[in-house]
Amino acid sequence: MPQLRILTGITPSGTPHLGNYAGAIRPAVEASRQAEVESFYFLSDYHALIKTGSPERVQRSTLEIAATWLAAGLRPEKVWFYRQSDIPEIPELTWLLTCVTGKGLLNRAHAYKAAVDKNVAEGEDADAGVTMGLFMYPLLMAADILMFNAHKVPVGRDQIQHLEMARDIAASFNHRYGEHFVLPEAAVDDAVATLPGLDGRKMSKSYDNTIPLFASPAELKKLIYAIVTDSKAPGEAKQTEGSPLFQLFQAFATPAETATMRTRFAEGIAWGEAKEALYDKLEAVVAPMRARYEDLIAEPQRIEQVLKSGAERLRAKYATPFIARLREAVGLRRLDQLPAASAPVRAKAQNKPQFKQYREADGQFYFKLVDGDGGLLLQSRAFASPREAGQAVAAIRNGDDFAAAATLAGAAQAADVTRAIAALNAE
Ligand code: TRP
Repeated sequence: MPQLRILTGITPSGTPHLGNYAGAIRPAVEASRQAEVESFYFLSDYHALIKTGSPERVQRSTLEIAATWLAAGLRPEKVWFYRQSDIPEIPELTWLLTCVTGKGLLNRAHAYKAAVDKNVAEGEDADAGVTMGLFMYPLLMAADILMFNAHKVPVGRDQIQHLEMARDIAASFNHRYGEHFVLPEAAVDDAVATLPGLDGRKMSKSYDNTIPLFASPAELKKLIYAIVTDSKAPGEAKQTEGSPLFQLFQAFATPAETATMRTRFAEGIAWGEAKEALYDKLEAVVAPMRARYEDLIAEPQRIEQVLKSGAERLRAKYATPFIARLREAVGLRRLDQLPAASAPVRAKAQNKPQFKQYREADGQFYFKLVDGDGGLLLQSRAFASPREAGQAVAAIRNGDDFAAAATLAGAAQAADVTRAIAALNAE
């Protein structure tokens, strides 16, 4: 596989907003159009369970986010587009990775440490409210990536540490079990816009300052009017630097349009006018996508079909054969494929001829020679003591004529006896 594999996950725990679109969806769809890359985009719904306890929200968000990607132009026949929970090999791989990962590595994860620090600051137990899901999150994410041996993982800055952990985990596994994993790299694109939200901080559902990507035109207008501005009057020159309004405009406009807007800011455009211009720009970009989105969302079964088909093909091509190889590597192996060596050794043991010494009811001592199948070859005469019987056995083994001590038994041939003795001596 000479191709570059690019993979990224989107957690379905909310409604997609403009920041998600400009920061992740748009660049990913553009990158997926390059012929020389194999792209993997998936809905990380197992991750969503860490963030929310609402089943309806996970399901609804999965539908909305899948529809958004398709409406944004992702072509599911050209890229791998799937839902994490449709690939059971991922949780299986998570366990294999768990067993080569030091707990200390996870103790150092930012998200977990932040939760602990907050607890400690509030005088709570350090792990209060911390689920094992939150703690193990970097392991599940490593499995997402390593399952498909992705080379590059486009993520935000907050995810860089997780990529470093994925590399460490991959290296530990490779060290113990052989080179199975590519060490993935984070791809953080500084050219990709980080959008400000309504309050000027980074647009994020955790700040509750988002503009939903597919807000209705009326809602979109209302939200744009709620964006914070300074109190400069119409006619006063306005700063583009640090203006959320300007940054939002820039993220959706052409360079020429942006240059024009910059001039208008310098000339003292009224905030109301700037908001109007932003609304027009956004509506022009979003409207065609919104129409596709609404069609898609009205037919959930079509989206279900797209996701299912993606997962099925992906499992057949990568996940199923790869997990089989990994299971083999760690020793989760079929018993009937044990090297056949031990079986013949045992059979041989059973088939060996043997001298057997014993005492009869008459108080005398005897021996006999039996072949591997238990057939009697030689029968000794009676000896007064076990020692004498033993000496006779030794003599026969040494190639002395056996006639003095024993007689051929039943159907036995002298040649069989010679062969049995040779076999015994060859041990
Ligand atoms: N953790 C990522 C986020 O919250 C989502 C994600 C899950 C992901 N698995 C991934 C991203 C694998 C990249 C690769 O944004």
